[in-house]
Amino acid sequence: MPGELVLSGLTKTFRSRGDVVVAVDNLDLEVEKGELVTLLGPSGCGKTTTLRLIGGFEIPDSGKVYIGGRDVTDLPPQRRNTATVFQSYGLFPHMTVFENVAFGLKVRRLPRAETRRRVLEVLKLVNLEGLERRYPRELSGGQQQRVALARALVVEPQVLLFDEPLSNLDAKLRVETREQIRKLQKELGITSVYVTHDQAEAMAISDRIAVMNEGKLQQIGPPYEIYAHPANRFVADFIGRANFLTVKVVEAEDNRLEIELKGGVRLEIPRVEGFTPGMQAVAVIRPEAVDVLQEGEGDVTATVVFGHYTGSLATYKLALPWGETLEVEVLSPQEKGFLSEGEKVGIRFHRQSIHLLFE
Ligand SMILES: Nc1ncnc2c1ncn2[C@@H]1O[C@H](COP(=O)(O)OP(=O)(O)O)[C@@H](O)[C@H]1O
Ligand SMILES: [Mg+2]
Repeated sequence: MPGELVLSGLTKTFRSRGDVVVAVDNLDLEVEKGELVTLLGPSGCGKTTTLRLIGGFEIPDSGKVYIGGRDVTDLPPQRRNTATVFQSYGLFPHMTVFENVAFGLKVRRLPRAETRRRVLEVLKLVNLEGLERRYPRELSGGQQQRVALARALVVEPQVLLFDEPLSNLDAKLRVETREQIRKLQKELGITSVYVTHDQAEAMAISDRIAVMNEGKLQQIGPPYEIYAHPANRFVADFIGRANFLTVKVVEAEDNRLEIELKGGVRLEIPRVEGFTPGMQAVAVIRPEAVDVLQEGEGDVTATVVFGHYTGSLATYKLALPWGETLEVEVLSPQEKGFLSEGEKVGIRFHRQSIHLLFE
């Protein structure tokens, strides 16, 4: 069965003053009914353009958009049954909360009583009961964003689109609001595409993450899969932090590989498809996938180059004997003591967490 939303070979080019920018480059994507897929990538990688192509605010140079199996590529926004929540809220300043939320239903010419019922219901859903007579300027940023959410939900869209909806909120409110969005989206089972450049937000909110760079899809998968098995250096680096060590594959068996680090240290790691003995590779080692021990313990001795403390974590940059460096994270540093520059430590690599990339 095809997805509720299908993007097929979507390409969109912009021309401005002689420059040609391929904003979206031959993008294929399927979103299942009730699923939340996040488009994640750096600024300028084509996320907003993709969302605008889905919503009908841009027409692609080539490719198709299907919603519920119907080709909507050439339909205007109001005939697509999508709704968008924007970063800037986009509320009408001269209308009350009630009128803002009711707007989409008025346009659709719903009877008054039904409109009232649905608006009040959805305001309750987003915890804005009792605020229907306020104007946007009389609300906090978080409340305004919930009005924007209510306005999108009230039309019961087939696909709900979010463009960096939390960027204008402070850190704590961002976390609360994203939890609320996710809870509602799941309860209501709304097929959603969510755009962000914030990898932690993407990890927290998504069924699947589609990582984009320069208009191209790099990888799509559940948060765990993308983190544990990144498809390339870009994805590994963009999702969380990663060390890249040059290694050689020494042995390959059914479900394990033996690799050799530059200094001769050998590690047995889970099998990664496509690697055979003799090949050079890049090992992706996450900062938390290393134990920091006493000098003389573990796999190799390293020297502390730099350290900083963020409360729950201490982050250290370590120099390996053969010149490569390694960023490591230590949990609960209060209990273990903070390491100082020049100190020698033993480190142990978590074999199970090491992933290989082609050079
Ligand atoms: N209307 C436009 N005219 C010209 N260039 C545009 C236009 N919209 C977007 N772009 C360019 O397309 C690329 C992708 O933009 P966008 O989709 O907004 O990225 P993102 O949302 O990931 O930051 C950028 O290089 C941007 O400058
Ligand atoms: Mg954008």
